[in-house]
Amino acid sequence: MIKKIIFFMGVFLFLMPGLSAAEVWKAPDQEKAKERAREVVPFVKEYKDDCLINRRTCLVDAGISIKDVTTVYFVLGSPVIKKREDHYEPVRFAHKRHAALTNDCSVCHHFRPKDENALETTRCSACHQDSFNPDYPERIGLKAAYHQQCMQCHQNQGKGPVDCKGCHLQNVPDHKELVKLPDGADPFQVTAECLRCHDTQADDMLTTAHWLWKGPSPYTTGHRKDIMHGKGTTALNNF
Ligand code: HEC
Ligand code: HEC
Ligand code: HEC
Ligand code: HEC
Ligand code: HEC
Repeated sequence: MIKKIIFFMGVFLFLMPGLSAAEVWKAPDQEKAKERAREVVPFVKEYKDDCLINRRTCLVDAGISIKDVTTVYFVLGSPVIKKREDHYEPVRFAHKRHAALTNDCSVCHHFRPKDENALETTRCSACHQDSFNPDYPERIGLKAAYHQQCMQCHQNQGKGPVDCKGCHLQNVPDHKELVKLPDGADPFQVTAECLRCHDTQADDMLTTAHWLWKGPSPYTTGHRKDIMHGKGTTALNNF
């Protein structure tokens, strides 16, 4: 569903003049960071719940502090999510700056694995993976875990991005190179050109409300001959 919504938002954006694919941010050690992002961590079943009430104190007692933040930034692009959806480039996350901003690791690193040898600040993807795990229904999936934690704080603090583009760079090639049309092409030719590559999206579209909507006509509601109007009934669908 989200893909469809994005596709439609995208169609409008694409049709706006002057818009081309966003420039992809690069750092010197970007490749190493991306490689790390591709790691799949074994799922952690049990977490330590004896210090949940005051996790912050727990971490301070364990001697965890900003000195343990050795990575300036991460890119987040887990294969756990990618196997399901792949709309965007990995999300860059300024870890050290965030850690310094809050000065409290527990805000994000809210639990640790039960295994004594595990890191206090184990990465999220160890515990949050698929969007629904029937054995651990209380655990939200990795994408939701990020979205909820990242956006909630940005919203509460009124700082940091809450709009999609603030975190996501789209994984979309520049269409100037892709779309091949003669001068003065008619609308049918344009649509046909898009469909050359976007046939799956076109099929998806056929099952959406955009294609199938119908509803009571305000002119006939309550009358003896109540008519349903819409693309699913009386209106014509063209391509
Ligand atoms: C505060 C940052 C942030 C914001 C704002 C945000 N996201 Fe995300 N999003 C993430 C992170 C982090 C991931 C996980 C990246 C990964 O591991 O692949 C993610 C993953 C995703 C994915 C799955 C990965 C992919 O490439 O397809 C989709 C789809 C997505 N977000 C859509 C959205 C949409 C739509 C919005 C706006 C309503 C949005 N996000 C806003 C941080 C954000
Ligand atoms: C704003 C949220 C946030 C804060 C605050 C934060 N971290 Fe993190 N940290 C993350 C995320 C997200 C990751 C996971 C990156 C990944 O999985 O690729 C991470 C990963 C780590 C890792 C790597 C773990 C591994 O297994 O490789 C360490 C170490 C770490 N954090 C230490 C700290 C310490 C110490 C603090 C407090 C001084 C801290 N973090 C504060 C969000 C945060
Ligand atoms: C050791 C395992 C573990 C790690 C590591 C972990 N979580 Fe969780 N998380 C859980 C469990 C268990 C729950 C469900 C808690 C409950 O019973 O409500 C949860 C719940 C959540 C929730 C739902 C709301 C809430 O706070 O209960 C969010 C959001 C979340 N985690 C985000 C993250 C992020 C982001 C990271 C990495 C910075 C992370 N988690 C690291 C185990 C973990
Ligand atoms: C505890 C609160 C908190 C959490 C959790 C948090 N952020 Fe932020 N974030 C902030 C604040 C505050 C700023 C504004 C910082 C500034 O203006 O210097 C910010 C800024 C940002 C920015 C814009 C600056 C930049 O680095 O380019 C991005 C992107 C971002 N956050 C991504 C994320 C992602 C991704 C996550 C989740 C993994 C996340 N944040 C979790 C508080 C948070
Ligand atoms: C030669 C192949 C090709 C043609 C022709 C083409 N596209 Fe694309 N388009 C792509 C690819 C590849 C992507 C990125 C992968 C994806 O999201 O499907 C993309 C992505 C998009 C997206 C973003 C979708 C998203 O999920 O974020 C939009 C919107 C879009 N195209 C619109 C159009 C329109 C409108 C036309 C016709 C004027 C068109 N495209 C013609 C190949 C093409």
